[in-house]
Amino acid sequence: MKNYFITATDTDAGKTFVASALICALVKENKRIAAYKPVAAGCQEQNGVLVNEDAALLAFFSNCNQDIPSVNPIALIEAIAPHIAAAHADYEISLGEINNGFEEVLSLHADINITEGAGGWRLPLSFNDATYNNQPTFLSDFAKASKQDVILIVNMKLGCLNHALLTYQAIIADGLNCIAWVANSANVEPMSNLKENIASLEKLLPMPKIAQFEYFQDTAMSLHEKISVAAKMIDLTPFK
Ligand SMILES: Nc1ncnc2c1ncn2[C@@H]1O[C@H](COP(=O)(O)OP(=O)(O)O)[C@@H](O)[C@H]1O
Ligand SMILES: [Mg+2]
Repeated sequence: MKNYFITATDTDAGKTFVASALICALVKENKRIAAYKPVAAGCQEQNGVLVNEDAALLAFFSNCNQDIPSVNPIALIEAIAPHIAAAHADYEISLGEINNGFEEVLSLHADINITEGAGGWRLPLSFNDATYNNQPTFLSDFAKASKQDVILIVNMKLGCLNHALLTYQAIIADGLNCIAWVANSANVEPMSNLKENIASLEKLLPMPKIAQFEYFQDTAMSLHEKISVAAKMIDLTPFK
């Protein structure tokens, strides 16, 4: 069983898009894939369950029959920084709860567990986590505790070189391996000098680039169809 944690240079960088495409690609390789989105901010209530769009997409493409709370145990209504959304809901996010949710995912015995982070690498969870000596906690603490291999999604826009390198350095400083990166254009307007920027990152980041996605503009295609097309463009070598 392998565990991968998908992080990004920022929010809206394409973590869900790429994580879903990766899951889709691995399912097509006959792997059993479980998904985990420990914390999601921005949910709507459906039949008494708080449903986040990311969790719904990850559940759609994975193949371990998980319900939404199994994919996403901590679901917050407001689409704002999770620790603030939690405070508004009179709730404290704990690493203990995130670890417990992951144990449940592990109990499915999938071949591969794919976790989507939230925001960027150093996403604050709590200033006062009783399950962590009342210390400030970050989502990266969960990735560290579960020793996951990390995949970095870079949203190709001005400023991304700095964000990508700082994120890579923080992952390594946390003692984890960053095994791959993806160049993703999450904005309809491509960044200027896109090729040169990707070439610069290829020189500066030591891990392989497993995909390069332009912005899929086709309005006739659904998001699910775009993700299925993107899935075919991923180099799965690191997962073999
Ligand atoms: N390469 C792409 N082509 C088309 N749409 C994309 C692409 N990458 C991301 N998007 C869209 O951009 C938005 C932000 O991406 P998302 O995967 O939700 O980011 P994150 O999970 O990092 O917050 C979503 O609406 C997503 O569908
Ligand atoms: Mg997302």
